[in-house]
Amino acid sequence: MSLWGGRFKESIDKLVEDFTSSIKVDKKLYKYDIEGSIAHTKMLLKGNIINEEEAEKIITTLKEIEKDIRGDKVNLLRKEDIHMAIEEELIKRIGDIGKKLHTARSRNDQIALDERLYQRDKIKELSKLIFSFQEVLLEIAERNQEIIIPGFTHLQYAQPLLLAHYFLAYFWMFQRDRERLGDVYKRMNVMPLGSCALAGTSLPIDRKYGARLLGFSKISPNSLDAVSDRDYIIEFLASLSILMMHLSRLSEEIVIWVSPPFSFIEIRDAFTTGSSIMPQKKNPDVVELIRGKTGHIYGNLFSILTTMKALPLSYNRDMQEDKKPLFESVDIVKGSLKIFIQLLKNIKINKKRMREEAEKGFFAATDLTDYLVEKKVPFRNAHRIVGEIVKYCLEKGKSFKSLTLKEYQSFSSLFKGDIFDRLKLDRCVFSKESPGGTGKKALKEQIDLAKQVLKENFRKNNL
Ligand code: ARG
Repeated sequence: MSLWGGRFKESIDKLVEDFTSSIKVDKKLYKYDIEGSIAHTKMLLKGNIINEEEAEKIITTLKEIEKDIRGDKVNLLRKEDIHMAIEEELIKRIGDIGKKLHTARSRNDQIALDERLYQRDKIKELSKLIFSFQEVLLEIAERNQEIIIPGFTHLQYAQPLLLAHYFLAYFWMFQRDRERLGDVYKRMNVMPLGSCALAGTSLPIDRKYGARLLGFSKISPNSLDAVSDRDYIIEFLASLSILMMHLSRLSEEIVIWVSPPFSFIEIRDAFTTGSSIMPQKKNPDVVELIRGKTGHIYGNLFSILTTMKALPLSYNRDMQEDKKPLFESVDIVKGSLKIFIQLLKNIKINKKRMREEAEKGFFAATDLTDYLVEKKVPFRNAHRIVGEIVKYCLEKGKSFKSLTLKEYQSFSSLFKGDIFDRLKLDRCVFSKESPGGTGKKALKEQIDLAKQVLKENFRKNNL
């Protein structure tokens, strides 16, 4: 007979038991469930609902159970969920005293608590990983301040950039991702325990004391809200979706950059895979898989959004389905970050190839326009003049560099001999000194700012 069997005339059908059980998924929460139960026991003691001896016995046994579950010594099979499994095990070990643990508590506030404890922990782990990821990006940027690559829009040659600027673009995306997780953390760091099934309790429990024990900054102000919503998980998965979108874009850059026509970078053999049929192949499967796994994270976000849609207050069993998407997402994002960090440490940069490509495609067109603008030509007119020069070059099979000054002057008498200096690749890149630009000094400032941000965040535990 289950712990809730009192009002039932017959025991549960095996099919229903199997169908409703969530133990295979939620056993992952055992350590958080026990942490919550220990705090709950202390709350019961403080309210004189149980005595010191009983509290002591419950807490010691819960700690033993935790050790035994970790050592795979507790049979969790055929239990409804992790909460029931632990409570039943406690009662098995200490009898009636164990039956007091669930006073002034429901599995509804218990699961809301467990999930928050789990999520808090995982946000910390993920933030640390993102931090390490950013460190690697910054390191690459700092080491390669002179390398020039073609910048693209529409994957067409646009304007050349410093490679460091490219990597730092991702640095800032991941900075925002980490900040977003920090925001989720702050908003979810609220303790639901003591909300009981949905209405609170008439028993004297000190919820603020419980919150302090568990490191929560606040208690939930409404018991109905506390057991009913899963917005904290939705927000978390939304943040992870954005993070994976960024990882997926960087993956795509790498797929493109290692492709033979580009050959901008090479991944060391240990971080690539071969083909079962084509002996010559070396594939970037790791980043392709990260790109592919992004779909699971988006799917998980939608899974839980859909589960929650239109549920009446308060708890509904549908909500049990929130754990799989949550756990799977955390595992995927952690795995992806871990391997991506190593992969980035294992790339070789082909500076020559990057430069070759950067030289292509009338890269200085905007610089020529700026040259005329400096001579007070209205921008739109300057744009048209340079457009005509490009058309002329295309027709004659020439490049900007191969045109004579005379040819330039046939488009505008304002072109002078100093024009050729403006066509140099380095000059073109290094001169973009507007703050946040790809110029030399601007880059140094950006690197300093990135370092400062990491230093400050490190002091705040990455959050
Ligand atoms: N296993 C359940 C879940 O994860 C715990 C809450 C069950 N509450 C209930 N009233 N049946 O959602």
